[in-house]
Amino acid sequence: MINQLVRPFSLLLLFLLSLSITTQAQTPAQSPAPSGPPNITRILEKAGQFTVFLRLMGTTQVDNQINNQLNNSNNGMTIFAPSDSAFSSLQAGTLNALSDEQKDELIQFHVVPTFLSISQFQTVSNPLRTQAGDSRNGQFPLNVTTSGNQVNISTGIVNTTVDNTIFTDNQIAVYQVDKVLLPLSIFGPQTPTPAPAPEATKKKKAAVADAPSSDDTDSSGGVGLAVNVMVVVMSIGIGMYAAFVL
Ligand SMILES: *[C@@H]1O[C@H](CO)[C@@H](O)[C@H](O)[C@H]1NC(C)=O
Ligand SMILES: *[C@@H]1O[C@H](CO)[C@@H](O)[C@H](O)[C@H]1NC(C)=O
Ligand SMILES: *[C@@H]1O[C@H](CO)[C@@H](O)[C@H](O)[C@H]1NC(C)=O
Ligand SMILES: *[C@@H]1O[C@H](CO)[C@@H](O)[C@H](O)[C@H]1NC(C)=O
Ligand SMILES: *[C@@H]1O[C@H](CO)[C@@H](O)[C@H](O)[C@H]1NC(C)=O
Repeated sequence: MINQLVRPFSLLLLFLLSLSITTQAQTPAQSPAPSGPPNITRILEKAGQFTVFLRLMGTTQVDNQINNQLNNSNNGMTIFAPSDSAFSSLQAGTLNALSDEQKDELIQFHVVPTFLSISQFQTVSNPLRTQAGDSRNGQFPLNVTTSGNQVNISTGIVNTTVDNTIFTDNQIAVYQVDKVLLPLSIFGPQTPTPAPAPEATKKKKAAVADAPSSDDTDSSGGVGLAVNVMVVVMSIGIGMYAAFVL
């Protein structure tokens, strides 16, 4: 009689117990006490090892822009933060060679304007659109390939892996990468457009040689030479005239 009563009761107890365990498992381990909108600067400062990225975000004002976007949109954001060692493994002078606009593009290339958890990378379609804009080939494409929890990134210039989750809530995800993500648009093979600097040196060389060089196949260089010759002839003429008059 007692046995018959206890059994259903213990079953109920078991059920309640398992229910409470599942509820506990579902609550996030790391609850990010939401005191105002997330602040990317504070997140990276706290993580350490991101001083170069922080500095560039400051000079390009991308930090303010991200904080404003986070406060004003519900899409969230994903940031690939290169560590200081990622920056120090760049070829010397790489950053200094960039214009302000290119620095801005480089930093925006590390920002995806949607929140992506590690598992969501498995279903995104390539190329990913970053805040640098145009994701077509040769511009700012960013591709991811995944295998389980491993997320690989390819820009067409560098391949790297998402290393470490620095911060995540349901709004912003910040991942560490150990390479600077170099976009094709800035670091890829450039379409050959006549650069003004080499043209100028060519003219100078031609003028120094003072004779048409055989390897000068560039027609504008030829015109430049003709103008130079004319100027020389004219100044000789003026000089002779002056000498004659005096
Ligand atoms: C974000 O954090 C940085 C550093 O802690 C602070 O200087 C800045 O004022 C904060 N920005 C906002 C919008 O709270
Ligand atoms: C966030 O946006 C609201 C209005 O949309 C504004 O009142 C508030 O000051 C903003 N907070 C920060 C930290 O920018
Ligand atoms: C990710 O890259 C590593 C090499 O860095 C490679 O061994 C692995 O197969 C790649 N995984 C995917 C899913 O592309
Ligand atoms: C990125 O993926 C797209 C689509 O699969 C492909 O066409 C493109 O060549 C890839 N680009 C890079 C840089 O890997
Ligand atoms: C990046 O990985 C792709 C294959 O996923 C490979 O074809 C390419 O050569 C790699 N690029 C570099 C710079 O290692």
